[in-house]
Amino acid sequence: LVRAPQAPRGRCRGALPLPRGASLPRRGGAAGPSAGQVRAAFLRFFEERHGHRRLPSAPVRPRGDPRLLFVNAGMNQFKPIFLGTVHPRSELAQHRRVVNSQKCVRAGGKHNDLDDVGRDTYHHTFFEMLGNWSFGDYFKEEACSMAWELLTEVYEIPRDRLYVTYFGGDASLGLSADEECRDVWLRLGVPASHVLPFPLKDNFWEMGDTGPCGPCTEIHYDHVGGGRNAAALVNQGNPDVVEIWNLVFMQYSREVEGNLLPLPQHHVDTGMGLERLVTVLQNKRSNYDTDLFTPILDAIHKGCRAPRYQGLVGDADVGRVNMAYRVVADHVRTLCVCITDGIYPGFTGAELVLRRILRRAVRFCSEVLQAPPGLLASLVPTVVEVLGDAYPELTRNANQDIINDNEAAFLSSLERGRRIIERTVQQMEPSTNFPAEVAWSLYGSLGFPLDLIDLMLEEKGISLDSAAFNELALEDAKRKAGGLQAGQPGNTNTHLDVHSLAWLQRSNVPATDDSPKYAYRLGQHGQYEFSPCQATILMLYRDQSLHKEVGAGQRCGVILDRTNFYAEQGGQDSDQGYMIRLGQQDVLFPVESVRLCGGYVIHEVTAVEALRAGDQVQLFVDEAQRLACMTNHTATHLLNFALRRVLGDSTEQRGSHVTAERLRFDFDTKGHVTVEQLQQVEQVVQDLIQKNEVVHMAEVPLTQARRVQGLRAVDEGYPDPVRIVSLGVPVENVLTCDSEAAMQTSVELCCGTHLLQTGSVEDLAIISERQLVKGISRVIAVTGGQAKEAREVGQCLATEVDSVSLRMKQRITSIPEMQNLSKEVGQLTKVVANAAMPQWQRKELQTILKALQRTANTAVKKLELQQAEKAAQILLAKYSNQPIIIDTVPADSLSILMKVVNQLCDKSPGTSVLLLSPQASGEVLCACQVSKNCVPTFSAADWAVAVCTQMEGKAGGSPIVAKGSGNARGMQGALTTALEFHGNPCSRTVPCFVLR
Ligand code: ALA
Repeated sequence: LVRAPQAPRGRCRGALPLPRGASLPRRGGAAGPSAGQVRAAFLRFFEERHGHRRLPSAPVRPRGDPRLLFVNAGMNQFKPIFLGTVHPRSELAQHRRVVNSQKCVRAGGKHNDLDDVGRDTYHHTFFEMLGNWSFGDYFKEEACSMAWELLTEVYEIPRDRLYVTYFGGDASLGLSADEECRDVWLRLGVPASHVLPFPLKDNFWEMGDTGPCGPCTEIHYDHVGGGRNAAALVNQGNPDVVEIWNLVFMQYSREVEGNLLPLPQHHVDTGMGLERLVTVLQNKRSNYDTDLFTPILDAIHKGCRAPRYQGLVGDADVGRVNMAYRVVADHVRTLCVCITDGIYPGFTGAELVLRRILRRAVRFCSEVLQAPPGLLASLVPTVVEVLGDAYPELTRNANQDIINDNEAAFLSSLERGRRIIERTVQQMEPSTNFPAEVAWSLYGSLGFPLDLIDLMLEEKGISLDSAAFNELALEDAKRKAGGLQAGQPGNTNTHLDVHSLAWLQRSNVPATDDSPKYAYRLGQHGQYEFSPCQATILMLYRDQSLHKEVGAGQRCGVILDRTNFYAEQGGQDSDQGYMIRLGQQDVLFPVESVRLCGGYVIHEVTAVEALRAGDQVQLFVDEAQRLACMTNHTATHLLNFALRRVLGDSTEQRGSHVTAERLRFDFDTKGHVTVEQLQQVEQVVQDLIQKNEVVHMAEVPLTQARRVQGLRAVDEGYPDPVRIVSLGVPVENVLTCDSEAAMQTSVELCCGTHLLQTGSVEDLAIISERQLVKGISRVIAVTGGQAKEAREVGQCLATEVDSVSLRMKQRITSIPEMQNLSKEVGQLTKVVANAAMPQWQRKELQTILKALQRTANTAVKKLELQQAEKAAQILLAKYSNQPIIIDTVPADSLSILMKVVNQLCDKSPGTSVLLLSPQASGEVLCACQVSKNCVPTFSAADWAVAVCTQMEGKAGGSPIVAKGSGNARGMQGALTTALEFHGNPCSRTVPCFVLR
């Protein structure tokens, strides 16, 4: 492929006719309207011509939806409306027609376009989605007709360039083709050759693995035109024929079990990619040639040494310079939007994805575009210029420092990683795959995004051993989930056996100086800065013995003279990271865990090359993991203090475990911790965070430390001198025995690594509390962004519960409606039980849900009884005391039908009754009861079996009552069988009173 050709000139779309004759300012002939004009025309068309309410874009950080990494479609914020769970009084519930332009990020998760970005000219991680919605208002006819009107009359796109697709049906799901939609398009005048059916994968839209979904119809644009028929190119990944608009008819909800449930109301959800639309309207063939990107590409050019962007793709893009321009321009938009909306490059979920996006962009800036550090952040003002009018929040919150800080951190490891790749490649046998262990080190230790590694290898014509890499990833995931704890018993390499330990001590090998683990400080922008540490290998340990040398490929314990790694102790997880052997060529060795043994710190390492005593190494701790542990450890102290404050001074710590993901704290209690107490504990912690107390740490003699008032210490063998961690009060003050200050704050003996200020904890949410055994409780808490997320999830679920409760209070007279509500309560109960949300709120919601479930059950029973009574009364009046009643009645369920039968028999004990009830689904329900006079000669079970067999169904029961079901096709025959039932003395002697 060479430069993407320009669209044929000649069509002048300088102006967009707007509603009621208003026109847009021309932007110079064939250049077409500006992106801003295109966006505005869309919004005004739906707002002014079709009565839609214009709403602002939601932030790209999903609020309270743990199933989404980023907002990836305009409809995300309307999900509660589609599912019918919206709070009736909420702002959202007030509109039936809505239009907006939504900021969307598709990177990670179900809709992930990251891998395509830069390679082609029309995929993006961030894009704008223009959308219009109908909430139970208009449906297929109007949705298609409005879209057609906008495209062909307002934007003046030639009709013969447009193709529409519709859902062709799916037999396995029992869904038929959407002929209704096809007919709408034909009625609108689209020629049949441009109306094309496609299967589920193309024309059935789903937001995620669960949630609202439905058949869709897409509008595709042929960039080439010229009278050709491009139908065969639709949905073929051809850059000449691209989808521009997707109109979804929301009719179903995909449930956790995978089944589709019809939604109570039908809705319309549409999404049109602004970038692609602008490309069409500006007569371009690449989104990067539009004014949404050209200012950014120009700014990149000004800041780098690479030649100007030429739009080349594929092999023609020698050196990938053009791809780099596209990647950087795309990624900087995503970074700006995410940071503005509160997603920062980090280490889990969306933040991790953003960190990878940032690193990918940095790498292209520095290596391909040969730009000096700082280019990426310098593009922020240009992005704000391009997007700021549409999304004013960008002008307030876009932050260059975050990008610069992250860039600096990555650049230092980028160079190292590049050298490691080059060196490994030099040593590889021809036609072999790149070793997974090295890729894993780059990924895990140096924080290289996997796609970046792939790309760097691809440039050298080499592939990664993906299967082996995935295995390593799986092993790591298992270890993180707790299945295989690094450095724990069983991992003999890190457990010095007694003989080896004695030998080390006898030979005067000095204990490891691990004081550099405390060498970190707060940087200018409030970020923690960790110093690397240089050390010498003293000894190696493997297979229960000490060695001076360990060969390549072996796992071993490395004993150093000094280290900045934190070895697992005091309940805080061990650090991970890597060491680089210094020499002519640097070699990276991942450090998987660290253990302390008799004063020696053992670093568990896989020797990617031979290691020898005397080797010089530089040590790098995985800063993200360490910082997360530090946050959770300091938060543990806050929690310990708060628990005592709320539950009383006798509350003693029984154990704690701090990992990067969460903190666990066991303590003794007199009884259950109440909802109010949990709330109070969180509040005390919040207050300490707000105060942003300094965390004071110092080593003091143990005897002196033990005299400190209010000291929290667990029964552990503390070293002497011991480290004191005190919040807000300098250690020398707490050592004064009469100091009251120490009583008012948290003072603990602790060797852990801590934050320097309590404010860095940001937030804490207790997400679980339970009694381990009588008298001992365990809480699990999360901090920072995770805590914030937990609160949002809690808030979201509280709104859902509130909404069900409100709907339940409305007068509901239909049994299926009440049953649906009851089911909803059941589902919510399950979600609330498992969600990562504040525990106090979970308990509150569980109480409400329990009551709602009771109310729903009682209401269903009452409605069923009412329905049964009514039916029974009618039948009694119709047959008044006859010995046999065989009839059909309407009934919503088998249990209601049974109730009708029961009531008839109660009121008329001498009567035997068999009732059938045809259902809308084609099923026929059957219930019968035999009068005591007829038993034992006449069995209800036999009666029901005979009748249901006639309907190709099944039945069962006792001689007195029985039930079953069958198919409507056999119903008439079944009624006759019921009458003629053999061996029934009753039926032979009494007249029967039948039938409709
Ligand atoms: N929600 C639909 C989409 O994202 C419109 O394509």
